[in-house]
Amino acid sequence: MTSNVATRWQSFNSQTEINQATTQRILDAAKEAIAKHGNFLIVLAGGSTPKNVYELLAKADADWSKWHVYYNDDRCLPVDHPERNSLMAAKAWLDHVAIPKSQIFDIPTELGPIEGAKAYARTLAGLRTFDLVLLGLGEDGHTASLFPGQTVDNSADAVPVFNAPKPPAERVTISQNRLNDTHEVIFLVTGAGKQEAVDNWRKGVKIPATLIAPACGVDVYSFGVALN
Ligand code: 6PG
Repeated sequence: MTSNVATRWQSFNSQTEINQATTQRILDAAKEAIAKHGNFLIVLAGGSTPKNVYELLAKADADWSKWHVYYNDDRCLPVDHPERNSLMAAKAWLDHVAIPKSQIFDIPTELGPIEGAKAYARTLAGLRTFDLVLLGLGEDGHTASLFPGQTVDNSADAVPVFNAPKPPAERVTISQNRLNDTHEVIFLVTGAGKQEAVDNWRKGVKIPATLIAPACGVDVYSFGVALN
């Protein structure tokens, strides 16, 4: 299936600029969603790139009581493991703002990939369209835990991953179909390590990031990567 989704590339001149632009975009999306729906459903990226954005959000002023936080994936590790995406976001941001804990939905990957995916699918069941999905990009073109050469069961909202090439091998990811059910997508891509993945993406190579093809199109915010 070829996806000719609208992909809007925006290159920034500094890490500060891309962090501030992303943070403002998230805060604006929250205001819009809260005005329209009475709440804001955001899906967070894992990895290291978004950490600075989460730290800026920790200092921001927002109607936190209306925010509902999900994760596009997490690694199958103990809850307090430093490599857990949910722990990174909590330390950088969520532990410092008044989002009710009942509205922060960690993926229970400590249960293992199969039980963790089943539990998260129950959490996502019946949820309306996400308002904003924030995604990273791996050096091999993966996003969330959708890796090259692997297909996931898109009939489910959350699925197990068993042999991820990026450790740990076992993860839980929201499926691409469910990630595509969103009003906005921002990819956050920084650093020369992502150059090959970006070059492939822009050449039309079907890297996993191109599986993210919502009707709204995707915005790719980049810094330190040439848009050749
Ligand atoms: C993960 C992430 C993964 C990440 C990319 C980029 O659990 O590893 O979900 O998709 O976003 O690998 O990672 P960095 O931001 O660390 O480069």
